[in-house]
Amino acid sequence: MPDVPVLDRAAVLAAVSPAAAIRAVTDAFVRHRRGEWVMPPKSYLPSPPYGDFRAMPARGDGLAMLKWISSFPQNPSRDLPTVIGVVLLNDATTSEPILMLDAGAVTALRTGAVAALASRTLAPAGATRAGVIGCGVNGAWTARCLAAHGFTDGVVSDPRERIAEALAEELGWRAGTLAEALAQEAVCCVTPGATPVVTAADLRPGLHLTMLGADGPGKAEATVEAVTACELFCDEWAQASHGGELTAAVEAGLVERSRVADLGAVLSGEHPGRSGADAVTLFDSTGLAIQDLAIARAALEALRAGAVEAQQVQL
Ligand SMILES: NC(=O)c1ccc[n+]([C@@H]2O[C@H](COP(=O)([O-])OP(=O)(O)OC[C@H]3O[C@@H](n4cnc5c(N)ncnc54)[C@H](O)[C@@H]3O)[C@@H](O)[C@H]2O)c1
Repeated sequence: MPDVPVLDRAAVLAAVSPAAAIRAVTDAFVRHRRGEWVMPPKSYLPSPPYGDFRAMPARGDGLAMLKWISSFPQNPSRDLPTVIGVVLLNDATTSEPILMLDAGAVTALRTGAVAALASRTLAPAGATRAGVIGCGVNGAWTARCLAAHGFTDGVVSDPRERIAEALAEELGWRAGTLAEALAQEAVCCVTPGATPVVTAADLRPGLHLTMLGADGPGKAEATVEAVTACELFCDEWAQASHGGELTAAVEAGLVERSRVADLGAVLSGEHPGRSGADAVTLFDSTGLAIQDLAIARAALEALRAGAVEAQQVQL
């Protein structure tokens, strides 16, 4: 067995910039829509009362990938990240493992990248003001990717004021209240999803919402009334209807498949996106393995180009 390179968190983040992550994730959605990349359903392994593990496989461009990752909401109180795991990349023709990566960094980049992509695709044309609600690990990378994708002004909001202020200073944005973040043109929610942060009263013409925190059963960042009042988009119906922001509305019989468009369909030109400048749009981002494959592939290219160094392990 040859040595397998390993990219730790810092190396993954050095290998793939927010702009490169957005390009890679855009390509992944289009390739998956065309049927060139394949992705079996995500599998959940609950670990009550702490959280759950997820197994996320995908294949494309001669590469096979598995992400094995957790979501343990109480972890920060133990000085551990909410999300911990590993990404394995294999050669899809020989099955050889060719790269291992820190899954937290891959997840943060691909989660931020799709938030920026969906915000640019679904917010009214020319939008420059972003709001980010929840400034933890994935909220911070969401803000960085939005800043790299033309959102030059923004408000970040988090009860942990110090992390919100540090993030705002890094980006040249400002820290503010929940209401101030919700007043921006493209709003991304990246909280643990324990209580809704968006209600129907917060909706106004032209608003675009990207909901990222509700990525598993029982989580929600918007009330069902707010969700059902929006034009709806998702990354994948199977995940969004069972473990995403749309789930409660689907289970209540208020939202059917025909009301929800896939981001890949919009990017491929099969769906027009928002119906007009005054529409209120909501994108449910549950997180797809094709996004992880996109980032892992971009990191592999950076490694092969000598842009980053890897640790080596012999299996
Ligand atoms: N959709 C996806 O692809 C995807 C990917 C990764 C993580 N997630 C989910 O996103 C959520 C956040 O993940 P993380 O790793 O960033 O967690 P984290 O613990 O690092 O950050 C969560 C942040 O939300 C803040 N917060 C809590 N309640 C809030 C409120 N009412 N208003 C504003 N901020 C609030 C917390 O103070 C914290 O800073 C989790 O539910 C996780 O499972 C989704």
